[in-house]
Amino acid sequence: MAGSTFGNQFKITTWGESHGKGIGVVVDGCPAGLALCEEDIQKNLDRRKPGQSKYSTPRKEDDAVEILSGVFEGKTTGTPISMIVYNKTQRSSDYGEIADYYRPGHADLTYDTKYGFRDYRGGGRSSGRETIGRVAGGAIAIKILDLLGVQLLTYTRSIGPVKTDDNNFDRSIISQNPLYMPDAEAAQRAGAFLEECMQHGDSSGGMIECIVKNMIPGVGEPVFEKLNANLGKALLSIGAVKSFEIGDGIAVSQALGSENNDQYTLSSEGHKVKLTNHSGGIMGGISDGSDILLRVGIKPTPSIKKEQSTITKDGRSIQIKVKGRHDPVIVPRAVVVVESMTAITLLDMLFASMTSQMDHLIRFFHR
Ligand SMILES: Cc1cc2nc3c(=O)[nH]c(=O)nc-3n(C[C@H](O)[C@H](O)[C@H](O)COP(=O)(O)O)c2cc1C
Repeated sequence: MAGSTFGNQFKITTWGESHGKGIGVVVDGCPAGLALCEEDIQKNLDRRKPGQSKYSTPRKEDDAVEILSGVFEGKTTGTPISMIVYNKTQRSSDYGEIADYYRPGHADLTYDTKYGFRDYRGGGRSSGRETIGRVAGGAIAIKILDLLGVQLLTYTRSIGPVKTDDNNFDRSIISQNPLYMPDAEAAQRAGAFLEECMQHGDSSGGMIECIVKNMIPGVGEPVFEKLNANLGKALLSIGAVKSFEIGDGIAVSQALGSENNDQYTLSSEGHKVKLTNHSGGIMGGISDGSDILLRVGIKPTPSIKKEQSTITKDGRSIQIKVKGRHDPVIVPRAVVVVESMTAITLLDMLFASMTSQMDHLIRFFHR
């Protein structure tokens, strides 16, 4: 199975299955000398771990991370950083039946078609638990970006029909409600909507938004390695993510040029600034120094208790109700995954951008 590595200069390789011994990541390309401990990683893993609220799967896991390599005396050494989280509460018995049939909305049929054999326990590699490696690697990228003054703010924009109202936006409550919504009233209504979904054995989708503040300008390559293209790839590679938008996103298809263009002016200090940010901080694939604004659409949790039609491996039509422990909504637990993949992409492209001008190169090597 190829394709488990993302990035060029700052590179992550995730590994492991939902019900195997453990799950983890190897981060290659982290500079030496970064102060790093398990707590730096753990605080982000805790944002995605299951069993934290009635809206997340009752599978209770500590998801405690161990750093196996690449850190000595509290600092990164510049060598690969390997991290592991042991799976502790696997209940493979919940998944015995799905060896023989294909769950709608899951990768069961496509994996079988491609490989002819799959680890069916909890979806194996296609499980949401694969994102543990992304979050562990992302915690390092977030820490480095923070040292460079770049901050990411990620939250739930909507759940089902319930949207955050910008007039009620309060960033201080994002981490204080189980849905990671910045609008207390919307969070309450979304909670009621999810209760209803759960009563019907159903699930909901939603939207996650990420704002990158104080972004460094000039990051991104102009053709195939555009910053927006690589962000799109990073985010669309997360399970259950079905759409990606940057800036005004899909709405630009209905806008006029005069509405969509970000006009320029000079600030009182003489800096070149934009009057608006419809482009979401990226032009021609390169960051322009304004906030990067992106959004991803997450589908409803595919494992639902409601009866559905499917087929068995040997070609029989059957009715099923998916067993096991599943979130009625994936969105809140994916918030930190979106932030992590965004940070990994930004850092990777930032490293690549360090060679874009001769002057920078000469200054760097003191020539
Ligand atoms: C953080 C996270 C948690 C997830 N948890 C579940 C879950 O509890 N139950 C489930 O059916 N799918 C869950 N998924 C989604 C499936 O892994 C995913 O929809 C499935 O593998 C099919 O892939 P696709 O939707 O990308 O096509 C989760 C995804 C993420 C990112």
